[in-house]
Amino acid sequence: MREILVAGNWKMNGSTAANAALISGIVSGVPEGSGFRLLVCPPLPYLAPVAEQLTGSNVALGAQNVSEHEAGAFTGETAASMLKDLGCEYVIVGHSERRAMYGETSAIVAAKFQAAQAAGLKPILCVGETLAERESGTTEKVINEQLDAVLESAGIDAFASAVIAYEPVWAIGTGMTATPEQAEDVHRHIRARLAKRNADLASRVQILYGGSMKGENAAGLLSMPDIDGGLIGGASLKASDFLAIAKAAART
Ligand code: 13P
Repeated sequence: MREILVAGNWKMNGSTAANAALISGIVSGVPEGSGFRLLVCPPLPYLAPVAEQLTGSNVALGAQNVSEHEAGAFTGETAASMLKDLGCEYVIVGHSERRAMYGETSAIVAAKFQAAQAAGLKPILCVGETLAERESGTTEKVINEQLDAVLESAGIDAFASAVIAYEPVWAIGTGMTATPEQAEDVHRHIRARLAKRNADLASRVQILYGGSMKGENAAGLLSMPDIDGGLIGGASLKASDFLAIAKAAART
């Protein structure tokens, strides 16, 4: 059975004081039960203090972005080895905000995915369609292109230590969540696409849903067979909201 991963993407939010309160609320309120794991992805400058605060807890640490390069003259960038050095286990790659606002193409995302793995980090590969793409019936085509760019450069075996997040762009920060059925359709499609290359491996890959996930809709989404967790933005910024999703994920 696949473990449920409840991951908070804090995006560009927080401060030393706010983060300390958030982490202490999360760590002290992790629900009883099993079969789930919590992960927080704070902004880069806060990775070290958050890592320190997480010591001894079972909440994992991740970053929101990584350079595709190993080291050198890349002003303002962060190497995967540095994230690893700071205690990160995961890194988000290809978030739609980075694709749309920072010109990250699927080829760049694939290079970041590989750079992360080369340093021993688990990439969380985000894929998802815009509203216009959904309405024009091209959802699967868009997902295929985003997924295949990584499959072709990294190979299917790389997905043994990676996570995929399906994040429909129209559901991010809009309060418009995909229904469990809409999300499941895409999750099933993603798993089937991986299964064409390696069915056993595909059955083990965690596929998270992201886009206005919150306490009230988490149980419905997480009850679907191919939804293995959530990548949560807004609702990861308040301990009680994040823990409500964790509670929906805990098998008791
Ligand atoms: P929201 O949960 O705020 O919609 O954000 C989702 C997201 O983009 C997580 O990466």
